[in-house]
Amino acid sequence: MADKTYENIEIKREGQITFVMLNRPDKRNAMSPGLHADMCDALETLATDAETRVLVLGGNGPAWCAGQDLKLYFREGAKDPMMRRKANNDSHHWRWEQLSRYPKPTIAMVHGYAFGGAFTQLCACDFAIVAEDATLGLSEVNWGIIPGGIVSWNLSDMMLPRHALYYAATGETFDGKRAVELGLANFSVPAAKLREETVKFATKLTKLNPNVLRYTKEGVKAVRHMTPENARDYLGVKQDSLMRLDKEIGDRVGMSEFLDKKSYRPGLGPYKR
Ligand code: COA
Repeated sequence: MADKTYENIEIKREGQITFVMLNRPDKRNAMSPGLHADMCDALETLATDAETRVLVLGGNGPAWCAGQDLKLYFREGAKDPMMRRKANNDSHHWRWEQLSRYPKPTIAMVHGYAFGGAFTQLCACDFAIVAEDATLGLSEVNWGIIPGGIVSWNLSDMMLPRHALYYAATGETFDGKRAVELGLANFSVPAAKLREETVKFATKLTKLNPNVLRYTKEGVKAVRHMTPENARDYLGVKQDSLMRLDKEIGDRVGMSEFLDKKSYRPGLGPYKR
């Protein structure tokens, strides 16, 4: 079935990798109320799409995302509280509630510019690959506002405290290499290779058992704010649930191939079903 078309985003596919591209290039992919609504709908649809094994969040044109749309989200929103309320809810819903708990692995593929509110979806994605020459920044201070929504929380969660405060307080920009040093991205690559490297990494993810991958990411994220005791309980129950969900793991096929048949070495590559 053909993908739905949207006014503010574009869906593209490459095998089992689905690219969701913010598509307001003329406005540097600034996030308007319409874009937020489109993203909520697309993420909901793709969450249960069997052809989507990995979701990549990118941006069309010269920017990944220039943050919230200062005109349509902030200025127009100030005049229309009901519209602002819906946009605010949609904005939080897709960038955090949906993305940070997405049932498929997600990769932020960042190029050009990434500012302000864009940091929430950057942090919500499971992985981030950034172009070396990308320009990222918390520019809110320049507008007389604070990194709101949950951006300040995202910074505190992902970055060391001194770095988070430094970049939020100064609005100073940094490039893709620095984003890796700050803990915001997994790796940076030359801009010309961004898509190719993203596809290479995403393809690697498609070869892993999707249930194990999903439970692993849910587990790693969930235990972050738990006590060790709670984490141990949670992960024990989580593992039991995984083994019930996935018969192959329940039967310990991979383990039997290593211990009994001696036909598989996990250190040499992922298990192939
Ligand atoms: N909100 C609304 N519109 C925005 C926007 C934003 N966050 N970012 C860019 N745009 C619009 C510009 O107003 C311009 O619109 P116009 O053609 O109708 O005048 C268009 O996008 C192109 O922007 P421009 O500044 O000409 O492009 P550029 O490539 O020279 O610079 C940026 C790109 C991203 C560096 C620059 O637009 C910028 O600094 N934007 C603000 C980013 C920001 O601070 N975001 C955080 C908001 S809290």
